[in-house]
Amino acid sequence: LREETPVRYDKERACWDIFRYDDVHLVLKNPKLFSSRRSQGEKRESLLIMDPPKHTQMRNLVNKAFTPKVIQELEPRIAEITNGLLDEVIPNTRMDMVYDVAGPLPVIMIAELLGVPARDRQLFKAWSDVLVKGPEVNTDEAFTSVMAEKRQASDELSDYFKDILVQRRRKRENDLISLLLDAEIDGEKLSEEELLGFCILLLVAGNETTTNLIVNAIRYMTEDVPLQAHLRAHPELLPHAIEETLRFYPPIQAIGRIATRDVEIGGQKVEAGSQVISWVAAANRDGRKFAEAARFVPTRKPNPHLGFGFGIHFCLGAPLARLEARIVLGILLHRCIDIEREEGALLHPIQSPFVFGVTHF
Ligand code: HEM
Repeated sequence: LREETPVRYDKERACWDIFRYDDVHLVLKNPKLFSSRRSQGEKRESLLIMDPPKHTQMRNLVNKAFTPKVIQELEPRIAEITNGLLDEVIPNTRMDMVYDVAGPLPVIMIAELLGVPARDRQLFKAWSDVLVKGPEVNTDEAFTSVMAEKRQASDELSDYFKDILVQRRRKRENDLISLLLDAEIDGEKLSEEELLGFCILLLVAGNETTTNLIVNAIRYMTEDVPLQAHLRAHPELLPHAIEETLRFYPPIQAIGRIATRDVEIGGQKVEAGSQVISWVAAANRDGRKFAEAARFVPTRKPNPHLGFGFGIHFCLGAPLARLEARIVLGILLHRCIDIEREEGALLHPIQSPFVFGVTHF
């Protein structure tokens, strides 16, 4: 597709697909031409589907809570949670990486940052799984049913957060929800809907994505045993291997936008109002941009992959996801002598066209 139809219109899905790096980059870099105000079956406002100037104002409220420097301070806590999760399973000599480690860690961490009880993590996990899910089969009924499920999960999550907001309005804590309650834009506090949108996005955006990053990295290391041994001996190389995982197996495969006016991409005329899907997964393997694009090169430098997006919507949680992945992988390689996939165990892909990961590993 990248070679033969780099920019193509799909009649059935009524959208444009973009596959080459330079074209995807162009789309993500130009919010004026390609708006994020796409409907996601979500009735609530969220950073992800805002354009400037509102996006800039809202994003500025949370940027400072997610800088690499602030996030770095979480290292001891992330290591403590990881070791605690591993203590439970290592004696068994077998584990399900998704359920035992890579699933719970991001949920516990974001719950602690937001200031919601980590003991409710099963609930968050269930809600976030529904919110990122796609239809299992490509029919209108399947689509409608998934959308209904999503709306229900989103309503349940907002009822959950409404209660927490009541508690925090009474008494602030040192957490993100308190920060958002005190935040102002042009002298005005955020509305209830804006607060709920933020809480839900923060809770959901980083869960399955970070889980998949960790599991995709481990999966690659079980396929390339010498690499596993090499990284075990040289943990300082892990950050590069993680970036390469984001390039090679990006947890988010594609990003949607809407063309705001008629525009030409790759020689094709895209009309105003069209849906444009930028295939990050294809762009990340474009040989025009990356040498040996089809090969996993754990030491690749520089690595301008688009796994966290690009431009104004570049992933807010990237420093957190990178740190969690580095710590978990470092501890796993240190504590587990040989990590192997269970013989005969089948891999079940997550049912979503936009998510790359497996349900168990
Ligand atoms: C945005 C991927 C982890 C919060 C994005 C975007 C991508 C992405 C591709 C851009 C979407 C767009 O342009 O429309 C990932 C991946 C992750 C990850 C692959 C893990 C490996 C996290 C975490 C958090 C988070 C841990 C939580 C704090 C967000 C938010 C946005 C975002 C709030 C919206 C930013 C904006 O619109 O300005 N992420 N993400 N993500 N991500 Fe992440």
